[in-house]
Amino acid sequence: TTTYLTGIQTSGEPHIGNYIGAIKPALTAANSHDTLYFLADYHSLNSTKDPEKLRHDIRSVAAAWLACGLDPTRTLLYRQSAIPEVFELTVILTSVTAKGLMNRAHAYKAARDRNEAAGAADLDSGVNMGLFNYPILMAADILIMETDYVPVGRDQQQHIEYAADIAGAFNHLYGEHYRFPIPQGVYPEGEASVLPGTDGRKMSKSYDNHIPMFLPENRLKKVVRRIPTDSTPVEDPKDPDTSAVFQLLSQFASEERAAETRKRLEAGGMGWGELKNELFEVLNTTFGPMRERYEELLAPGSDLDDILADGAERARQRSRATLAKVRAAVGID
Ligand code: TYM
Repeated sequence: TTTYLTGIQTSGEPHIGNYIGAIKPALTAANSHDTLYFLADYHSLNSTKDPEKLRHDIRSVAAAWLACGLDPTRTLLYRQSAIPEVFELTVILTSVTAKGLMNRAHAYKAARDRNEAAGAADLDSGVNMGLFNYPILMAADILIMETDYVPVGRDQQQHIEYAADIAGAFNHLYGEHYRFPIPQGVYPEGEASVLPGTDGRKMSKSYDNHIPMFLPENRLKKVVRRIPTDSTPVEDPKDPDTSAVFQLLSQFASEERAAETRKRLEAGGMGWGELKNELFEVLNTTFGPMRERYEELLAPGSDLDDILADGAERARQRSRATLAKVRAAVGID
């Protein structure tokens, strides 16, 4: 059987980009594969320094997975922090990972570029070692479960390729004794698969431009209204392909409905306001029915914590087995 694994950081409430990039494809894979989905809580420590908020966000991401239909009898749902083997493997992997590879990582380079643009004397200013080592920890998340496929958004492609490189480096050195399967990314189709946020940039919790999945109706309406549009008058033809609102709509509406709306925009006569109402409606129909279950799971005393504990226990059977093989392969048994 093939193994699918993916993770979501627990920094902020899960958003509709997480749904398209990871949750929806991952739940489809759960019908026919061995699946492990986890909450990347240690990854979030780099950006979240508020313990109360982190506790909330961990439960919120877990509740989102379950509200979207994850079946915990079939898929292991667990917290990264409950799997100590991940961190031991991280140390082992640092010894086969070139520093130069980390120097070229997008997130690290972006932080240096921002410092350069701001005229900072030290380009590493504000960069912690957690950010620098991030790709190695992520490789450990993936490799510890002997993962074959990782459903993620395109923004994670470099991280997946790094995990494959690191696995390859390990296999090259120790392959006579143990080989990691080489993981591959599984990405959503289409140009618009990296969803734009409410300011037109990539939707991301770190830009604070995201649309949380389970906003109450009135707040969802407000957030959708914030998405920027140009000032083309209602009567004039509009280009759907340069519109963030249309890009979002096309990910959530049926194909027929998106095609119909495209025609109306191109013909002229459909205003941005109307398009936004349509987006609101489609999002509300997609997530509305799951909202109640989400709220129930978040309430104290729900079975959320038991599900996570059970998932972790079963996931650890796997992580322990992998780590034992890896330790033996490198000579630390
Ligand atoms: P994170 O928490 O930023 O995002 C979780 C998932 O959502 C996808 N995603 C998007 N997809 C489409 N459009 C967007 N605007 C958008 N924003 C986010 C991401 O691609 C991702 O699939 N490094 C990972 C977490 C992680 C992980 C792992 C993933 C840690 N270890 C091991 C897979 C395997 C991250 O920061 O995702």
